[in-house]
Amino acid sequence: MNITKIFENNQEWIVEKLKKDQNYFKKLSKGQTPEILYIGCSDSRVTAEEIMGVQPGDVFVHRNIANMVPNSDLSAMSVINYSVVHLKVSHIVVCGHYECGGVKAAMQPSDLGILNPWLRNIRDVYRLHKNELDLITDEGEKYKRLVELNVQEQCINILKTSEVQIAYRDSKLTVHGWVFDIHTGEIIDLKIDFDKIMGQIMEIYSLT
Ligand code: CO
Repeated sequence: MNITKIFENNQEWIVEKLKKDQNYFKKLSKGQTPEILYIGCSDSRVTAEEIMGVQPGDVFVHRNIANMVPNSDLSAMSVINYSVVHLKVSHIVVCGHYECGGVKAAMQPSDLGILNPWLRNIRDVYRLHKNELDLITDEGEKYKRLVELNVQEQCINILKTSEVQIAYRDSKLTVHGWVFDIHTGEIIDLKIDFDKIMGQIMEIYSLT
């Protein structure tokens, strides 16, 4: 990828946008009112806006290695707080993807330095669901299932925050667990039953 090409692309994009709407950037600069917070993987192949077919202003986006929501990660926690309390989003999506390098790395014994504590969060997901994962003999299927379970656990981490618990209780917010199937391009809704999960975990995690 030629870096100069990016600036050429940018100029073409500006022309394209202004051709459709002369006031496009004037409107864009006025502020944002996205209804969705999307938390996805930094993987270059899983571009949030493009796979969802949305435009600038539509979705508040947070991406990191393996779409994680660690409880002590100031960045993820700030993104959740800002989008729920200030932007008042009505949906939070955690979107994982098959063939996720972060999840794969967490399935193997390997010392990856500074990545160790980050990936340990995924190893914790593995430990939490070891009984189910150990029943899957096919390594590829086990890998896919860990991607899905990791999405589920990150959604649960979101539900542990007080701002989300309040919005959820007031029926102002829905949490969604998705997986992008990189083999087909399809976004799969894991249809996780968060009402049921909340019923199971709130005894421990309720802050309200
Ligand atoms: Co990934």
